[in-house]
Amino acid sequence: MADVPHPLTRRRFGATMRRDAWWLQPALVFVLLSSFIVYATWAAFQGAHYTFGPYLSPFYSPELFGSSPHAWFGPKPAWWPRWLVFSPALLILPFPGLFRVTCYYYRGAYYKAFWADPPACSVGEPRARYRGEASFPLIVQNIHRYFLYIALFFLVVLLSDVWKALWFFDSATGRATFGIGVGTLVLAVNVVLLGGYTLGCHSMRHVIGGYLDRLSGRPVRRRLYACSSCLNRAHMRWAWCSLFSVAFADLYIRLCSMGVWTDWRIL
Ligand code: FES
Repeated sequence: MADVPHPLTRRRFGATMRRDAWWLQPALVFVLLSSFIVYATWAAFQGAHYTFGPYLSPFYSPELFGSSPHAWFGPKPAWWPRWLVFSPALLILPFPGLFRVTCYYYRGAYYKAFWADPPACSVGEPRARYRGEASFPLIVQNIHRYFLYIALFFLVVLLSDVWKALWFFDSATGRATFGIGVGTLVLAVNVVLLGGYTLGCHSMRHVIGGYLDRLSGRPVRRRLYACSSCLNRAHMRWAWCSLFSVAFADLYIRLCSMGVWTDWRIL
């Protein structure tokens, strides 16, 4: 077959032949991600109203140090600098935060939405040279796989929080009794959505068996690989749903703790 030379013309920034509303998706991503970052940062610095009954906000879990009964190692440590505001969330939130920041899906989304590089597919870029993620600083994004290990640990912790959210203190008997509140369901749905997002991570398939030449002859790994691939196909949806659910779970517990909302008991 003969080669037909087809010269590429470089478009100026923002120029495109697309006729659709290509700017809508990056604009929406910008608004939603910015709103989440503002809310999560505000909530993390509050250091209050993050527990209600047996519930613990996912922004504060695991609570390593803190004043609530959920704290693993007791109250605020003596070594914490005086000039630095203390909140249990500040010790743990950077880990799930960096897991999301380095996620392959979010990278594609916020490169377009926050620094328009490119603004969208087939739309002119702001610079002439493509450097990709092969050099500093974006090469650091390859750390994503290691944050996956931490995210898997957090998933187990959040699962144990759902278990704890099934046990309500009964002042009559002085003991914890089994029950289900709306907050229990909020935390449970949040773990399911976070699980769908984390287990469908691109790096998850490498962890399961992507480093092997062949998966045949390894039925368990093959099935796990297929499950992860299935979740991965809807990775964008899992990413957004879990982002909303984790913020809503914090908001729900916060408003219950402040007496604005009532946590209805189902059982
Ligand atoms: Fe999105 Fe790993 S690629 S969480």
